[in-house]
Amino acid sequence: MPHLNSTFTLKGLSLKNRIVMPPMCQYSVDAKDGKPNDWHFVHYVSRAVGGTGLIIMEMTDVEPDGRITDYDLGLWSDDHIPAFARIISEVHKYGAKIGIQIGHAGRKAEDAEVPVAPSAIPVSSKFKTPRALTTSETRDMVQKFKEAARRAVEAGVDTIELHGAHGYLIHQFHSPGINHREDEYGKDLARFGVEVVQAVKSVMPESMPLIMRVSAIEYMDGGYGLDHSIEICRRYRDAGVDMFHVSSGGEGPIGARKPGNYPGFQVPMARAIKEALGVPVIAVGMLDNPALAESVVANGDADLIAVARGMLRDPYWAIHAMQALKQEVTPPKQYMRAY
Ligand SMILES: Cc1cc2nc3c(=O)[nH]c(=O)nc-3n(C[C@H](O)[C@H](O)[C@H](O)COP(=O)(O)O)c2cc1C
Repeated sequence: MPHLNSTFTLKGLSLKNRIVMPPMCQYSVDAKDGKPNDWHFVHYVSRAVGGTGLIIMEMTDVEPDGRITDYDLGLWSDDHIPAFARIISEVHKYGAKIGIQIGHAGRKAEDAEVPVAPSAIPVSSKFKTPRALTTSETRDMVQKFKEAARRAVEAGVDTIELHGAHGYLIHQFHSPGINHREDEYGKDLARFGVEVVQAVKSVMPESMPLIMRVSAIEYMDGGYGLDHSIEICRRYRDAGVDMFHVSSGGEGPIGARKPGNYPGFQVPMARAIKEALGVPVIAVGMLDNPALAESVVANGDADLIAVARGMLRDPYWAIHAMQALKQEVTPPKQYMRAY
Protein backbone atom coordinates (compact mmCIF):
# COMPACT_ATOMS: atom_id res chain seq x y z
CA MET A 1 0.00 0.00 0.00
CA PRO A 2 1.48 3.41 -0.89
CA HIS A 3 2.08 5.96 1.85
CA LEU A 4 2.94 9.63 2.00
CA ASN A 5 6.46 8.50 2.71
CA SER A 6 6.75 6.00 -0.14
CA THR A 7 8.54 6.59 -3.39
CA PHE A 8 6.73 7.29 -6.64
CA THR A 9 7.93 6.82 -10.20
CA LEU A 10 6.30 8.04 -13.39
CA LYS A 11 8.41 7.49 -16.51
CA GLY A 12 11.80 9.02 -15.69
CA LEU A 13 10.52 11.03 -12.72
CA SER A 14 11.31 9.39 -9.37
CA LEU A 15 10.13 11.04 -6.18
CA LYS A 16 11.31 10.24 -2.68
CA ASN A 17 7.82 10.77 -1.25
CA ARG A 18 4.27 11.61 -2.35
CA ILE A 19 4.32 15.24 -1.24
CA VAL A 20 4.02 18.08 -3.78
CA MET A 21 4.41 21.81 -3.36
CA PRO A 22 1.86 23.06 -5.91
CA PRO A 23 2.35 26.23 -7.96
CA MET A 24 1.81 29.46 -6.05
CA CYS A 25 2.30 32.84 -7.74
CA GLN A 26 4.57 35.04 -5.67
CA TYR A 27 3.95 38.25 -7.66
CA SER A 28 7.52 39.13 -6.70
CA VAL A 29 9.47 39.78 -9.89
CA ASP A 30 11.51 42.98 -9.46
CA ALA A 31 11.89 44.54 -12.86
CA LYS A 32 8.72 43.30 -14.56
CA ASP A 33 11.09 41.17 -16.64
CA GLY A 34 9.64 37.76 -15.76
CA LYS A 35 12.89 36.58 -14.16
CA PRO A 36 12.96 34.80 -10.81
CA ASN A 37 15.08 36.58 -8.20
CA ASP A 38 16.51 35.80 -4.76
CA TRP A 39 13.02 35.67 -3.24
CA HIS A 40 12.05 32.85 -5.60
CA PHE A 41 15.38 31.12 -4.99
CA VAL A 42 14.94 31.09 -1.21
CA HIS A 43 11.24 30.26 -1.46
CA TYR A 44 11.71 27.12 -3.56
CA VAL A 45 14.99 25.92 -2.07
CA SER A 46 13.50 26.18 1.45
CA ARG A 47 10.75 23.72 0.55
CA ALA A 48 13.36 21.35 -0.89
CA VAL A 49 15.30 21.57 2.39
CA GLY A 50 11.96 20.96 4.10
CA GLY A 51 11.63 17.49 2.59
CA THR A 52 9.12 18.04 -0.24
CA GLY A 53 9.27 15.34 -2.93
CA LEU A 54 8.16 17.46 -5.89
CA ILE A 55 8.08 21.24 -6.20
CA ILE A 56 6.10 22.81 -9.03
CA MET A 57 7.16 26.40 -9.56
CA GLU A 58 4.41 28.98 -9.89
CA MET A 59 2.48 29.86 -13.05
CA THR A 60 5.10 31.05 -15.53
CA ASP A 61 3.83 32.72 -18.63
CA VAL A 62 4.56 32.24 -22.30
CA GLU A 63 4.32 35.93 -23.23
CA PRO A 64 4.28 39.24 -21.32
CA ASP A 65 0.55 39.77 -21.84
CA GLY A 66 -0.04 36.23 -20.57
CA ARG A 67 0.83 37.28 -17.04
CA ILE A 68 -1.79 37.85 -14.38
CA THR A 69 0.32 40.83 -13.25
CA ASP A 70 3.58 42.34 -14.41
CA TYR A 71 5.23 40.78 -11.35
CA ASP A 72 4.73 37.20 -12.53
CA LEU A 73 7.39 34.86 -13.86
CA GLY A 74 7.87 34.33 -17.58
CA LEU A 75 9.67 32.09 -20.04
CA TRP A 76 9.16 34.09 -23.20
CA SER A 77 12.87 34.51 -23.91
CA ASP A 78 16.07 32.48 -23.63
CA ASP A 79 17.32 35.20 -21.26
CA HIS A 80 15.05 33.72 -18.61
CA ILE A 81 16.76 30.33 -18.58
CA PRO A 82 19.76 30.98 -16.26
CA ALA A 83 17.72 32.29 -13.31
CA PHE A 84 15.46 29.23 -13.42
CA ALA A 85 18.47 26.92 -13.84
CA ARG A 86 20.01 28.35 -10.66
CA ILE A 87 16.92 27.47 -8.61
CA ILE A 88 16.57 24.04 -10.18
CA SER A 89 20.14 22.94 -9.59
CA GLU A 90 20.04 24.08 -5.95
CA VAL A 91 16.71 22.32 -5.29
CA HIS A 92 18.22 19.09 -6.67
CA LYS A 93 20.95 19.17 -4.00
CA TYR A 94 18.32 18.40 -1.35
CA GLY A 95 16.82 15.39 -3.10
CA ALA A 96 13.69 17.13 -4.35
CA LYS A 97 12.48 17.12 -7.94
CA ILE A 98 11.23 20.30 -9.52
CA GLY A 99 8.90 21.25 -12.34
CA ILE A 100 7.31 24.44 -13.55
CA GLN A 101 3.75 25.43 -14.33
CA ILE A 102 3.54 26.95 -17.79
CA GLY A 103 0.49 29.01 -18.60
CA HIS A 104 -1.18 32.08 -20.02
CA ALA A 105 -3.73 34.14 -18.11
CA GLY A 106 -5.84 34.93 -21.19
CA ARG A 107 -8.80 37.07 -20.13
CA LYS A 108 -7.53 37.04 -16.53
CA ALA A 109 -4.40 39.06 -17.47
CA GLU A 110 -4.89 42.10 -15.25
CA ASP A 111 -2.03 44.32 -16.42
CA ALA A 112 -2.28 43.63 -20.15
CA GLU A 113 -3.72 46.68 -21.91
CA VAL A 114 -6.10 44.46 -23.88
CA PRO A 115 -6.07 40.84 -22.72
CA VAL A 116 -6.60 38.07 -25.26
CA ALA A 117 -9.03 35.17 -24.95
CA PRO A 118 -10.93 32.64 -27.06
CA SER A 119 -13.91 35.04 -27.18
CA ALA A 120 -14.42 38.70 -26.29
CA ILE A 121 -16.24 37.91 -23.04
CA PRO A 122 -14.93 39.39 -19.77
CA VAL A 123 -14.69 37.35 -16.57
CA SER A 124 -17.03 39.86 -14.94
CA SER A 125 -17.63 43.60 -14.91
CA LYS A 126 -14.54 43.97 -12.68
CA PHE A 127 -12.25 42.67 -15.47
CA LYS A 128 -11.16 44.14 -18.80
CA THR A 129 -13.01 42.96 -21.89
CA PRO A 130 -10.60 40.75 -23.82
CA ARG A 131 -10.01 40.64 -27.55
CA ALA A 132 -10.70 37.30 -29.26
CA LEU A 133 -7.55 35.72 -30.68
CA THR A 134 -7.67 35.22 -34.44
CA THR A 135 -7.25 31.67 -35.71
CA SER A 136 -3.66 32.32 -36.78
CA GLU A 137 -2.87 34.02 -33.43
CA THR A 138 -4.23 30.91 -31.71
CA ARG A 139 -1.85 28.75 -33.75
CA ASP A 140 1.00 31.10 -32.82
CA MET A 141 0.02 30.79 -29.16
CA VAL A 142 0.55 27.02 -29.34
CA GLN A 143 4.09 27.73 -30.53
CA LYS A 144 4.66 30.11 -27.58
CA PHE A 145 3.78 27.29 -25.18
CA LYS A 146 6.19 25.03 -27.06
CA GLU A 147 9.03 27.55 -26.86
CA ALA A 148 8.45 28.12 -23.13
CA ALA A 149 8.55 24.35 -22.56
CA ARG A 150 11.79 24.06 -24.50
CA ARG A 151 13.32 26.73 -22.26
CA ALA A 152 12.09 24.97 -19.13
CA VAL A 153 13.73 21.75 -20.32
CA GLU A 154 16.95 23.65 -21.04
CA ALA A 155 16.83 25.07 -17.52
CA GLY A 156 16.80 21.51 -16.17
CA VAL A 157 13.25 20.80 -14.96
CA ASP A 158 12.22 17.25 -14.08
CA THR A 159 8.65 17.74 -15.28
CA ILE A 160 6.34 20.36 -16.78
CA GLU A 161 2.82 21.19 -15.66
CA LEU A 162 0.46 22.95 -18.06
CA HIS A 163 -1.99 25.31 -16.39
CA GLY A 164 -5.32 24.11 -17.70
CA ALA A 165 -7.25 25.16 -14.58
CA HIS A 166 -8.60 28.19 -12.71
CA GLY A 167 -10.01 29.96 -15.74
CA TYR A 168 -6.68 30.64 -17.46
CA LEU A 169 -6.19 30.34 -21.22
CA ILE A 170 -6.27 26.56 -21.74
CA HIS A 171 -9.29 26.31 -19.43
CA GLN A 172 -10.93 29.22 -21.30
CA PHE A 173 -10.64 27.29 -24.56
CA HIS A 174 -12.19 24.07 -23.24
CA SER A 175 -15.01 25.82 -21.37
CA PRO A 176 -18.35 25.83 -23.23
CA GLY A 177 -19.39 28.93 -21.26
CA ILE A 178 -16.26 30.93 -22.20
CA ASN A 179 -15.31 29.71 -25.69
CA HIS A 180 -17.92 30.84 -28.24
CA ARG A 181 -15.65 30.65 -31.29
CA GLU A 182 -16.85 29.41 -34.63
CA ASP A 183 -13.48 28.29 -36.01
CA GLU A 184 -11.79 24.92 -35.41
CA TYR A 185 -10.77 26.06 -31.91
CA GLY A 186 -14.42 26.56 -31.00
CA LYS A 187 -16.02 23.65 -32.81
CA ASP A 188 -13.68 21.36 -30.88
CA LEU A 189 -13.24 22.75 -27.37
CA ALA A 190 -10.26 20.49 -26.61
CA ARG A 191 -8.37 21.38 -29.77
CA PHE A 192 -6.25 24.23 -28.39
CA GLY A 193 -5.23 22.23 -25.33
CA VAL A 194 -4.53 19.12 -27.40
CA GLU A 195 -2.28 21.11 -29.75
CA VAL A 196 -0.47 22.66 -26.78
CA VAL A 197 0.07 19.22 -25.23
CA GLN A 198 1.42 17.82 -28.50
CA ALA A 199 3.68 20.82 -29.11
CA VAL A 200 5.07 20.81 -25.58
CA LYS A 201 5.62 17.06 -25.68
CA SER A 202 7.63 17.42 -28.89
CA VAL A 203 10.34 19.37 -27.01
CA MET A 204 10.32 17.26 -23.83
CA PRO A 205 12.52 14.18 -23.44
CA GLU A 206 10.54 10.92 -23.89
CA SER A 207 11.18 10.03 -20.26
CA MET A 208 9.84 13.31 -18.82
CA PRO A 209 6.19 13.18 -17.73
CA LEU A 210 3.79 15.99 -18.58
CA ILE A 211 1.31 17.09 -15.91
CA MET A 212 -1.81 19.13 -16.61
CA ARG A 213 -3.68 21.04 -13.92
CA VAL A 214 -7.42 21.13 -14.53
CA SER A 215 -10.50 22.50 -12.88
CA ALA A 216 -12.63 19.38 -12.56
CA ILE A 217 -15.79 21.47 -12.20
CA GLU A 218 -16.62 25.12 -12.82
CA TYR A 219 -18.27 27.23 -10.14
CA MET A 220 -20.10 29.74 -12.33
CA ASP A 221 -23.79 29.26 -12.99
CA GLY A 222 -24.16 27.08 -16.08
CA GLY A 223 -20.53 25.95 -15.76
CA TYR A 224 -19.32 22.49 -16.68
CA GLY A 225 -19.27 19.45 -14.39
CA LEU A 226 -17.18 16.31 -14.03
CA ASP A 227 -18.63 14.62 -17.11
CA HIS A 228 -17.24 17.40 -19.30
CA SER A 229 -13.85 17.60 -17.60
CA ILE A 230 -13.38 13.83 -17.85
CA GLU A 231 -14.03 13.94 -21.60
CA ILE A 232 -11.67 16.89 -22.03
CA CYS A 233 -9.01 15.16 -19.92
CA ARG A 234 -9.43 12.02 -22.01
CA ARG A 235 -8.43 14.05 -25.08
CA TYR A 236 -5.48 15.56 -23.23
CA ARG A 237 -4.42 12.14 -21.96
CA ASP A 238 -4.57 10.72 -25.49
CA ALA A 239 -2.50 13.69 -26.70
CA GLY A 240 0.22 13.00 -24.13
CA VAL A 241 -0.66 14.16 -20.60
CA ASP A 242 0.78 11.65 -18.12
CA MET A 243 -0.79 12.90 -14.87
CA PHE A 244 -3.57 15.31 -13.90
CA HIS A 245 -3.42 17.75 -10.99
CA VAL A 246 -7.03 18.13 -9.98
CA SER A 247 -8.32 21.48 -8.76
CA SER A 248 -11.62 23.27 -9.44
CA GLY A 249 -13.23 26.62 -10.21
CA GLY A 250 -11.51 29.94 -10.83
CA GLU A 251 -13.17 30.68 -14.16
CA GLY A 252 -15.68 33.39 -13.31
CA PRO A 253 -18.22 34.72 -10.87
CA ILE A 254 -18.95 32.10 -8.25
CA GLY A 255 -22.41 30.58 -8.52
CA ALA A 256 -24.39 28.07 -6.54
CA ARG A 257 -22.32 25.17 -7.89
CA LYS A 258 -19.31 25.97 -5.70
CA PRO A 259 -18.56 23.20 -3.20
CA GLY A 260 -17.85 24.09 0.41
CA ASN A 261 -14.19 24.62 1.31
CA TYR A 262 -13.71 21.64 3.59
CA PRO A 263 -10.59 19.54 4.11
CA GLY A 264 -10.16 17.25 1.15
CA PHE A 265 -13.14 18.66 -0.77
CA GLN A 266 -11.47 18.14 -4.17
CA VAL A 267 -10.31 14.57 -3.46
CA PRO A 268 -13.44 12.89 -4.91
CA MET A 269 -12.85 14.81 -8.16
CA ALA A 270 -9.26 13.57 -8.34
CA ARG A 271 -10.41 10.03 -7.70
CA ALA A 272 -13.10 10.29 -10.39
CA ILE A 273 -10.57 11.40 -13.03
CA LYS A 274 -8.10 8.71 -11.95
CA GLU A 275 -10.74 5.99 -12.17
CA ALA A 276 -12.27 7.16 -15.44
CA LEU A 277 -8.98 7.59 -17.29
CA GLY A 278 -6.59 5.20 -15.58
CA VAL A 279 -3.95 7.89 -15.06
CA PRO A 280 -2.13 9.01 -11.92
CA VAL A 281 -3.47 12.14 -10.26
CA ILE A 282 -2.37 14.76 -7.75
CA ALA A 283 -5.04 15.76 -5.23
CA VAL A 284 -4.94 19.28 -3.77
CA GLY A 285 -7.03 21.51 -1.54
CA MET A 286 -6.96 21.73 2.24
CA LEU A 287 -4.88 18.58 2.69
CA ASP A 288 -2.46 20.00 5.24
CA ASN A 289 -3.61 17.69 8.03
CA PRO A 290 -0.97 14.89 7.80
CA ALA A 291 -3.42 12.11 8.70
CA LEU A 292 -5.82 13.28 5.99
CA ALA A 293 -2.99 13.55 3.45
CA GLU A 294 -1.83 10.05 4.36
CA SER A 295 -5.34 8.64 4.00
CA VAL A 296 -5.74 10.11 0.49
CA VAL A 297 -2.61 8.33 -0.69
CA ALA A 298 -3.09 5.10 1.30
CA ASN A 299 -6.74 4.74 0.21
CA GLY A 300 -5.69 5.14 -3.41
CA ASP A 301 -7.76 8.28 -3.98
CA ALA A 302 -4.72 9.97 -5.48
CA ASP A 303 -1.10 9.10 -6.19
CA LEU A 304 0.34 12.34 -4.84
CA ILE A 305 -1.00 15.08 -2.59
CA ALA A 306 -0.19 18.79 -2.82
CA VAL A 307 -0.12 21.25 0.06
CA ALA A 308 -0.07 24.93 -0.87
CA ARG A 309 -0.92 27.32 1.96
CA GLY A 310 0.28 24.77 4.50
CA MET A 311 3.73 25.04 2.95
CA LEU A 312 3.63 28.83 3.00
CA ARG A 313 3.08 28.58 6.75
CA ASP A 314 5.67 25.87 7.20
CA PRO A 315 8.47 25.28 4.66
CA TYR A 316 9.24 22.06 6.56
CA TRP A 317 5.67 20.78 6.21
CA ALA A 318 6.89 17.51 4.65
CA ILE A 319 9.31 16.68 7.47
CA HIS A 320 6.76 17.69 10.10
CA ALA A 321 4.02 15.59 8.45
CA MET A 322 6.31 12.55 8.50
CA GLN A 323 7.01 13.17 12.17
CA ALA A 324 3.30 13.45 12.93
CA LEU A 325 2.80 10.12 11.15
CA LYS A 326 5.67 8.60 13.17
CA GLN A 327 7.70 8.02 10.01
CA GLU A 328 11.44 8.20 9.81
CA VAL A 329 12.51 11.73 8.89
CA THR A 330 15.62 12.81 7.07
CA PRO A 331 16.18 16.50 7.78
CA PRO A 332 19.36 18.07 6.45
CA LYS A 333 22.37 17.02 8.53
CA GLN A 334 22.90 20.61 9.69
CA TYR A 335 19.49 20.48 11.43
CA MET A 336 19.67 16.92 12.78
CA ARG A 337 20.10 18.01 16.40
CA ALA A 338 16.65 19.56 16.30
CA TYR A 339 15.11 16.18 15.54
C1 LIG B 1 -0.50 32.60 -2.86
C2 LIG B 1 -1.11 31.58 -3.77
C3 LIG B 1 -0.78 31.60 -5.12
C4 LIG B 1 -1.31 30.63 -5.99
N1 LIG B 1 -0.88 30.59 -7.29
C5 LIG B 1 -1.23 29.54 -8.09
C6 LIG B 1 -0.60 29.33 -9.35
O1 LIG B 1 0.33 30.02 -9.75
N2 LIG B 1 -1.06 28.29 -10.11
C7 LIG B 1 -2.05 27.44 -9.68
O2 LIG B 1 -2.43 26.52 -10.41
N3 LIG B 1 -2.60 27.60 -8.46
C8 LIG B 1 -2.20 28.58 -7.65
N4 LIG B 1 -2.69 28.66 -6.37
C9 LIG B 1 -3.58 27.58 -5.86
C10 LIG B 1 -2.79 26.52 -5.10
O3 LIG B 1 -1.85 25.85 -5.93
C11 LIG B 1 -3.71 25.46 -4.46
O4 LIG B 1 -4.40 24.78 -5.47
C12 LIG B 1 -4.73 26.10 -3.50
O5 LIG B 1 -4.11 27.04 -2.64
C13 LIG B 1 -5.43 25.03 -2.65
O6 LIG B 1 -4.49 24.28 -1.90
P1 LIG B 1 -4.27 24.53 -0.31
O7 LIG B 1 -5.61 24.34 0.34
O8 LIG B 1 -3.28 23.48 0.11
O9 LIG B 1 -3.77 25.93 -0.13
C14 LIG B 1 -2.21 29.65 -5.50
C15 LIG B 1 -2.56 29.67 -4.14
C16 LIG B 1 -2.01 30.59 -3.28
C17 LIG B 1 -2.37 30.54 -1.82
